Amino acid sequence: MDYFFSDKISALQPSAIREILKAASDPGVISLAAGNPAPEAFPRAAIAAITAEILERDPVSALQYGISEGYEPLRLAVEAMLKQRYGIGRGFDQVLITSGAQQGIDLATKVLCNEGDVVLCENPSFIGALNTFRSYNVRLRGVDMEEDGLDLGQLEEALRTEKNARFLYLIANFNNPTGRCTSLEKRRAIYALARRRGILILEDNPYGDLRFAGEDIPSLKSFDEDGLVIYAGSFSKIIAPGLRVGFACLPAEIASKMTVAKQGADVHTGALAQMICERFLAGTDLDEHFRRLRDIYRRKSGLMLEAMGASFPPAVTWTKPEGGLFLWCSLPPAADMTAFCRSAAAAGVAVVPGSAFLTQPEDYCRSFRLNFSTPPDESIIRGIELLAGLLR
Ligand SMILES: Cc1ncc(COP(=O)(O)O)c(C=O)c1O
Repeated sequence: MDYFFSDKISALQPSAIREILKAASDPGVISLAAGNPAPEAFPRAAIAAITAEILERDPVSALQYGISEGYEPLRLAVEAMLKQRYGIGRGFDQVLITSGAQQGIDLATKVLCNEGDVVLCENPSFIGALNTFRSYNVRLRGVDMEEDGLDLGQLEEALRTEKNARFLYLIANFNNPTGRCTSLEKRRAIYALARRRGILILEDNPYGDLRFAGEDIPSLKSFDEDGLVIYAGSFSKIIAPGLRVGFACLPAEIASKMTVAKQGADVHTGALAQMICERFLAGTDLDEHFRRLRDIYRRKSGLMLEAMGASFPPAVTWTKPEGGLFLWCSLPPAADMTAFCRSAAAAGVAVVPGSAFLTQPEDYCRSFRLNFSTPPDESIIRGIELLAGLLR
């Protein structure tokens, strides 16, 4: 049988990158390629107790259909959390519960973009979001990342020339893949530019609570007095990704369109999972919980950075993130990064080739992404040892 596939999905071809990533699932290979939270960070006992209690006390709500906007007590809890902790949310905003931040990104694209429209993105950026944009046949216009966030000159130029740009997608806290943070000055400048040009911002913030060094920086959504920012948040990195619960805080007018789109996608996010999140928020000292998560990631990133510092040759450079799950390592200019990642996989350690995160994956890239949250300590040490051997 010859199967027919839509143009939009045919554009998402498996590539050399996938081949390298396949190696990561080989049990004999150490994977520094994942993007998963540390398994030891899951609040397993709390989730077990909460789940048992829900099924005992309120099984029908957990097992029955719910409304697409989300389980009301969770929406209210998220609304309160966003307002009190982060100054997010104005009278014109609404909270929508999504199946992960990924679904917020998908629904926003679905309701805002026609085929051929343009989405502006940090370059490099999260591959899951880039592929979502591509699946709607939108064109990606990458804006290069500097140490402290987007290159503002390039952003201005893109905003001036791209007449069909629908929104700017960014990960201001601990960008996936670079681990970089956008400075407060740049956040303000980006917001002001977007306002002047009348373009929306899709602010994806799954890692904001995982800051293990430096000072918190207000989100762009916290400046939003104009209904410009769609904020996508998630419980994946602060509770557990298998629950598939995220949230969006956005102007009600856009939220109502996204709700209609969500009805067609999955009707609603799993009710039991939403109830678990709601009870977890109600019964947990979040400051204490975040402190525990930050301790885990501070220690693991420190272990990786220390091993790299002790063994990588001086011509290789890397970011030193203050939070999140990743760091971005760059080979010397003109190096063949793809060949390096292939030999790393053959030597028993998988990393993600940086080109996977580019808006134009065929562009030259000399960097790769390393993840420190998923592997156990001994794999971090051994993985870096293997990479150092190859680099030398
Ligand atoms: C930047 C970014 N946004 C969104 C997501 C999707 O997360 P969720 O599990 O909330 O859908 C990820 C997952 O790794 C991510 O790195």
